[in-house]
Amino acid sequence: MFARQAVHALGNTARLFSTSAARQTKVAVLGASGGIGQPLSLLLKLDPLVSSLSLYDIRLAPGVAADVSHVDTPGEVNGYPADKLDEALEGVKIVVIPAGVPRKPGMTRDDLFNTNASIVRDLASAVARVAPEAYVLVISNPVNATVPIVASVFEKAGVFNPRRLFGVTTLDVVRAARFVSSASNVKPADAPITVVGGHSGVTIVPLLSQNSYGKAITGEKHEALVHRIQFGGDEVVDAKKGSGSATLSMAYAGAKFTNALLRGLNGEKGVVTPTFVKSKLYEDKGVDFFASNVELGKEGVEKIYPVGPISAEEEKLLETALPMLKSNIEMGRAFAAQS
Ligand code: NAI
Repeated sequence: MFARQAVHALGNTARLFSTSAARQTKVAVLGASGGIGQPLSLLLKLDPLVSSLSLYDIRLAPGVAADVSHVDTPGEVNGYPADKLDEALEGVKIVVIPAGVPRKPGMTRDDLFNTNASIVRDLASAVARVAPEAYVLVISNPVNATVPIVASVFEKAGVFNPRRLFGVTTLDVVRAARFVSSASNVKPADAPITVVGGHSGVTIVPLLSQNSYGKAITGEKHEALVHRIQFGGDEVVDAKKGSGSATLSMAYAGAKFTNALLRGLNGEKGVVTPTFVKSKLYEDKGVDFFASNVELGKEGVEKIYPVGPISAEEEKLLETALPMLKSNIEMGRAFAAQS
């Protein structure tokens, strides 16, 4: 009963856990004991489209799994310790990766690269070997570089399918709707904002002009709002005073994106959301991964939408974002090439 109410409350107008079909799926969380991993695992346990959860971490995963498994929703839950990664991935359809270290005050997401790049590379190698057809959702930062690393690992293994790899940028979309709706005194569901580009600082490009409430915010307020969406993560990092970055809102965003993908895979039409994918939109500028609206279908990426009509300010934001994005992607590719 509680779970149903929780699903209802969490879902509300954002439709966190809408169910359109009965088909159910096994989902693995790699990094399940972390600040994001634990609440994400709980939220996925509440999703009726998840039939089985496979929780893996280098520490504490069996304990987290035992805890989550007592929640009275139907999904089965299993936890796997550090040396059982292959077992954790067996039969898995979706792999969500929040493994890695988070930021401390003063750090950018790029500062995490040295540690997280090898964590993501090693996890991706295991996925390519054990579950090569799985859909891979990368949360570990810097997403602009970790997603190309996963692509390179899959390419090397001869199993890369660009329709199945996603960088999770949903938190930027969630923040944008929340901030615009607060500024305009409307519900977040009435202020959906498409966020394109990448997932760090100035590579995050919110297209406020495409929403009537967003468009109505002009001048200095507009600039401040764009900055807040781009650097919203810093608010959380600073407020947590060195103990980590966004975890609860990220878990919500991760569960929301996973549910959207599951609905698409199950045949629901019209599931469209921004996500960072292999994309031809700005390939001529050397940017072959880009976040824009993507329709999610039975085989993952169904259609990649162009950014559409944007304001002169947004053109400038995009111009600033592209070279940065290019260098982040190259950094990921270079790391994978020399590994
Ligand atoms: P955390 O430190 O609380 O948790 C990370 C977990 O990963 C730990 O439990 C750790 O044991 C585990 N881990 C480390 N190496 C592993 C390996 N080889 N295999 C499996 N598990 C491993 O960190 P938190 O706060 O959960 O953040 C995780 C990542 O998510 C960070 O890189 C952070 O920057 C990123 N993040 C991404 C966001 C996005 O919007 N995409 C938003 C917020 C954070």
